[in-house]
Amino acid sequence: MAFTFFFRDQTVLDLIATHVVPTLSGYSRIRIWDGGCAMGPEPYSLAITIAEKMGHFAFRNVHIDATDIDEQGVFEKIIENGVYPIDQLERITPEIFGKYFTPGEGKGEFRVVDSIRQAIHFKRHDLLSLKSIADGYRLIVCKNVLLHFHPAERVNVIRMFHSALAPGGFFATERTQEMPRELAHLFEKMSEEGQLYRKAETLS
Ligand SMILES: C[S@@+](CC[C@H](N)C(=O)[O-])C[C@H]1O[C@@H](n2cnc3c(N)ncnc32)[C@H](O)[C@@H]1O
Repeated sequence: MAFTFFFRDQTVLDLIATHVVPTLSGYSRIRIWDGGCAMGPEPYSLAITIAEKMGHFAFRNVHIDATDIDEQGVFEKIIENGVYPIDQLERITPEIFGKYFTPGEGKGEFRVVDSIRQAIHFKRHDLLSLKSIADGYRLIVCKNVLLHFHPAERVNVIRMFHSALAPGGFFATERTQEMPRELAHLFEKMSEEGQLYRKAETLS
């Protein structure tokens, strides 16, 4: 269930770079939440994409809450260390790899650079608690997690994300996940290319 790898969904990362990052400039604190982040490749890919698009000066204001139910209690250390074996890094272009990874201590291991690692803050959290860990998020990403929930749970979790988003904040999920019909009025779909939504200006 914790299957993941770097740059797993380039389409949604491109949509975030195009539609979300331009709306983030000017904020002194930019909160992002990656729910069900597994052992880190997804929030790190997100952070690298945002840093590339917004520039390193503005990126210092980005704070990514990376959360997972983490049943074995092992993700925090992995994410904090930011060290991954080369076979999990194969999708990364040579340019991005050279910029954001340095050799780790072990053979065939590479570490994410500090400027990216400092933006990621891991917490154990159960999405089905329906309690958000904070609010005012500019972007919430939840991918390849909702499909494991019952339809009613899915609706409740997305409703919780909606409450946790700042006005005009964005929600991204995987391509195969349609927005439940009863929540469609709460979000505006940004593209037919993938599942990126913007919080609509309506009363919930
Ligand atoms: C298939 S992985 C997806 C990882 C990443 N989002 C991606 O798309 O590459 C699913 C993750 O959801 C987490 N998960 C499952 N149920 C959860 C829950 N109730 N609350 C938070 N995380 C959960 C699992 O621990 C696992 O790490």
